[in-house]
Amino acid sequence: MDMILEGKAFVNGSFEHCCIGISNGKILSIKKILKGDQHLIFKNKLLLPAAIDIHVHFRDPGMTAKEDFATGSLAAAYGGTSCVCDMPNTLPATTTIQDIIKKKTLANRKSFVDFGVYAGITDANSNSLSSLAQHCNGFKIYLGSSTNALLLPPNKLMDVFYQASKVKKPLFIHAEDESCLLNHKKVEHTLADHLQGRPAVCEEQAIQKILTASSSFLTPIHICHLSSCEGLELLKKRPTHITCGVTPHHTLLNAEQHFPSQSCYKVNPPLRTRLDKESLFDALAHDTIDILESDHAPHTLEEKQQEFDAAPSGVPGVETMVPLFLYLTKKQQLSFQQMTSLLCARPGEILAVPKGKLQPGYDADIMVVDLKKETKITADMLHSKCGWTPFEKFPAIFPLHLFIRGEKLIEDREIQVSRGFGQYIGE
Ligand code: NCD
Ligand code: ZN
Ligand code: ZN
Repeated sequence: MDMILEGKAFVNGSFEHCCIGISNGKILSIKKILKGDQHLIFKNKLLLPAAIDIHVHFRDPGMTAKEDFATGSLAAAYGGTSCVCDMPNTLPATTTIQDIIKKKTLANRKSFVDFGVYAGITDANSNSLSSLAQHCNGFKIYLGSSTNALLLPPNKLMDVFYQASKVKKPLFIHAEDESCLLNHKKVEHTLADHLQGRPAVCEEQAIQKILTASSSFLTPIHICHLSSCEGLELLKKRPTHITCGVTPHHTLLNAEQHFPSQSCYKVNPPLRTRLDKESLFDALAHDTIDILESDHAPHTLEEKQQEFDAAPSGVPGVETMVPLFLYLTKKQQLSFQQMTSLLCARPGEILAVPKGKLQPGYDADIMVVDLKKETKITADMLHSKCGWTPFEKFPAIFPLHLFIRGEKLIEDREIQVSRGFGQYIGE
């Protein structure tokens, strides 16, 4: 065995003091006592699977003043995330095999953590899922306009679901209905206006269209960043091949709150009411949501501080997601079983990668956490290029160390590897 990590590990749904044996980057066995070349003992610290964030916008290529694959992935690592999947709304958009290969090449050179990429599906390439499939980890569909979004007309959904069912790659959907959004569109000055312009009914209509169009296919479909009670209600009866995720911002923030700047908190889908927020959090705690996803959408402060209507939508969050929820789990708002399922195990299952569980055969992606190390989030402790956070002053617990494939990536909150360590998670 190359290495043994010993500590209080979360294995099969509970904590036990044990040894995790690692060989060739994989967990080989988990036992009370194991011997290996290197033996690291973490006493009473927690050993948890590292998180997987299936939804980030690292802005590379084309918008690297906001973020690039190096800074975005470094932020992920400091936040306890060993694997990220990047959305296709870059410049150029990731909609052709050539552009997907280019993005993978740049990510390979720059990424600190393991990564996947999605192909964006638009009217133009909606017949090409089978050829795109071999090069990506899934497909992204926008049913409503968002920042640099690619749109797919809803009448194409059924055909796209059919093609996806043949290639067995998951589809990730931004579920706001474009015709509904256009009906409500208005000039916006505040978060309340933004909410009125993108009401819950638009999310409901998009989800309804997805449920109808997908009813004869068993292809895996993921509804991204669910944000409303109405959407949640519809998804309570969903078939098992349909999964859904929520973001930290939709579960911890709402539009009526007093914020230092309104435009910083402009995001799609919008922050909604306190009731929406509380219902989503409650759904996390009652196992009706599959995963947490950050929808890390960095924009510079300069861009965000424009007039509300001109400011781009999106908030950063890849580095703060795990620390916020580690703290909330310590405070017993969620159980460790729920937290690790939402952040690690279920995202791994959705992507069909051997990550997200402390189990033999899985990648040795492990975070070491000291629950006593509570801090308050401030922008200056974070690593994204955008330089701000919607969670300023929120209590959080950042992991002390992070291992990816058995390599120590972060030790005592210091990065130990160079850019390019991260690997592509597909074939
Ligand atoms: C995202 C972005 O900025 O790329 N913005 C957002 O408000 N969430 C796009 C998206 O995921 O819709
Ligand atoms: Zn989106
Ligand atoms: Zn997004």
